[in-house]
Amino acid sequence: MGMASTTIPCVFFFIQILSILSKSEAKVSAVIVFGDSSVDSGNNNFIPTIAKCNSEPYGRDFPGGTPTGRFCNGRLTSDFISEGFGLKPVVPAYLDPAFNISDFATGVCFASAATGYDNATADVLKVIPLWKEVEYYEEYQKKLRAYLGDKKENEVISDALYIISIGTNDFLENYYALPRRQSQFTVQQYEDFLVGIAEHFVRQIYSLGARKLSLTGLPPMGCFPVQRITNFDDPLNCLEERNKVALEFNAKLKATVAKLNKDLPGLKVFFADAYELLLQLITKPSQYGFEVVEEGCCGSGLFETGILCYRHAPLTCPDADKYVFWDAIHPSQRTNKIISDQLVPQLKQLFL
Ligand SMILES: *[C@@H]1O[C@H](CO)[C@@H](O)[C@H](O)[C@H]1NC(C)=O
Ligand SMILES: *[C@@H]1O[C@H](CO)[C@@H](O)[C@H](O)[C@H]1NC(C)=O
Repeated sequence: MGMASTTIPCVFFFIQILSILSKSEAKVSAVIVFGDSSVDSGNNNFIPTIAKCNSEPYGRDFPGGTPTGRFCNGRLTSDFISEGFGLKPVVPAYLDPAFNISDFATGVCFASAATGYDNATADVLKVIPLWKEVEYYEEYQKKLRAYLGDKKENEVISDALYIISIGTNDFLENYYALPRRQSQFTVQQYEDFLVGIAEHFVRQIYSLGARKLSLTGLPPMGCFPVQRITNFDDPLNCLEERNKVALEFNAKLKATVAKLNKDLPGLKVFFADAYELLLQLITKPSQYGFEVVEEGCCGSGLFETGILCYRHAPLTCPDADKYVFWDAIHPSQRTNKIISDQLVPQLKQLFL
């Protein structure tokens, strides 16, 4: 008798906790992704560009071991974040005809490798510009409304987590590689130009219903293997000048995030600090079980990405888990997993 009287409130309490948990867990309805190759899950497979990686050894550690168009040996940070929120373990690419709106209702990716904030960056390799990713998002909303009805569609759109990861190509593929933007802008002016586009983009998707955003800053791009090989003064070390630009840009982007959070009612933007997250792994690799940071796994690891990283490329490493980078630009799956393991609890704290 004594037992029953103590057990019942206990069980009741437990059930209450469960119902609170399940209510809050349901609050991120979908993961919706915008950006570049850091998050493209295969859109570039379906457009005419050379910025593709739909062949081996890409995807060799992906479930099934197949290339998907992800610039990685396996899954991306955005895939792991989706899984971390109890959604799909992989976020499907919007242009992939193997998927339809019933798949996209819980996650969709509009990202395109080699794109940037700047329209001119997308032009370099004829990929999808950011404004076009937004157009696809509007088309997606129409399809979702037809599929779920107005009320459910509104809920999905406002409760979705939006992951935005873009900007590195504006510097590495455009500003520092081609003369046009350098003749028009100093690098500080170019940073301001890009941050202005980022702000416009956030305001635009906010007006379309987005409320929960994770906006990724620039990574320490001077430590990408493809940048290290251009360091003639200090061979194979990080190119500090590029890292300085990334930090400068991030400080400006962070200030804009604070302003947007203040200006736009109901909006929550999280600044995902890709710089700090990746730099930890680069500076203390052994602490995370990595053995190589200066070169990627694929080929020599110093310049190969996309079509240059091919099936029988000599020197490709047997175990990408030991490498921070998979190719000369893109992190390995294990790096993506470690980064998402750090991000997911912070995102949950803010968005659940
Ligand atoms: C989506 O595709 C699945 C199988 O490929 C199919 O069963 C389903 O009817 C499709 N849904 C819509 C809304 O087209
Ligand atoms: C980029 O191109 C789109 C479509 O032409 C245009 O609407 C937009 O203003 C351009 N962005 C910038 C910053 O020039």
